[in-house]
Amino acid sequence: MICLGIESTAHTFGIGIVTDKGKVLANVKDVFTTKTGGIVPAKAAEHHAAVCDEVVKKALETAKLKIEDIDLIAFSQSPGLGHTLRIGAFAARDLSLIYKKPLVGVNHCIAHLEIGRLLTDAKDPVLLYVSGANTQIIAYDAGKYRVFGESLDGGVGNFLDTFARELGLGFPGGPRIAELAGKGKEFIELPYSVKGMDISLGGLLTNLKQKLKSGKYRKEDLAYSIQETVFAMLLEVSERAMAHCGKEELLLGGGVACNTRLQEMAKKMCEERKSKCFVLENQFNVDNGAMIAWLGIVMHKAGIKTRIEDSEIKPYERTDDVKVTWR
Ligand code: ATP
Ligand code: FE2
Repeated sequence: MICLGIESTAHTFGIGIVTDKGKVLANVKDVFTTKTGGIVPAKAAEHHAAVCDEVVKKALETAKLKIEDIDLIAFSQSPGLGHTLRIGAFAARDLSLIYKKPLVGVNHCIAHLEIGRLLTDAKDPVLLYVSGANTQIIAYDAGKYRVFGESLDGGVGNFLDTFARELGLGFPGGPRIAELAGKGKEFIELPYSVKGMDISLGGLLTNLKQKLKSGKYRKEDLAYSIQETVFAMLLEVSERAMAHCGKEELLLGGGVACNTRLQEMAKKMCEERKSKCFVLENQFNVDNGAMIAWLGIVMHKAGIKTRIEDSEIKPYERTDDVKVTWR
């Protein structure tokens, strides 16, 4: 069985093609970017609609397949921006109806975790999912993927992007901050905000803006200190989640998981508690169609289908709203 998966929760329009043996035959994407400012949902949706045919075509070419060879269509049904989710859902319904293929709508956050279980040796990991919009610590417990900790305000990626914008660095900010941080020498103490199992970034952003305005600090040192502080906060709550759930594996996912300093710190934390740390290739950290296709296969094998009349998007669905019947 071969599944074509459509990702469209935010900036990325991605198509993945994956077999039921877990072989990734294609993972193609086109990302909506801006020179200045953030994402305007309607503009991103226009982008997705414009590139859809081309990305599907490229993915099929890469996989050396025709659309008729596809057995199943999966799409990110939740959570994300309504405008962009809708484009992926349209495309999925179209392909399903025209070519008479079954349809499965999947939860994007869970897809990040399941692709990690496919591509690494992780069996039952705690997922530290850090992307632009999302920052969650997710693990399986009693029939659901539960959120054990999260950011109380924005996601870490958006926070990095916002501060990068303050520095005039453009989008996406995460990699630019990382580059700058490499040149940092001095650690500047910043507000460290862990509240139980959750983290908060709002106060830190205000503090950083003030520090920047004062002109007393080097940008490089600020970037370095941001990474050290925020990543330590993330790993403190991840470690607590691992201890609480009695799990011995940590998996990193989401765009910010591409950050090599976060990876290094995560590995060190796991080493110290004699646990394993799993890091994916960058193409599977960022939003991608392959993870949607794979979760489609996993759910289909468990007998889950999405009827056209039930295929409406669910922008606000939470990870723990989904009943996990495939584990
Ligand atoms: P989601 O819909 O899951 O919230 P997203 O649309 O934000 O995802 P991703 O591709 O998962 O997309 O993540 C993008 C984020 O990752 C951006 O905020 C970007 O700044 C950040 N990022 C990418 N590379 C790095 C890096 N090396 N270091 C830190 N942050 C990074
Ligand atoms: Fe994501």
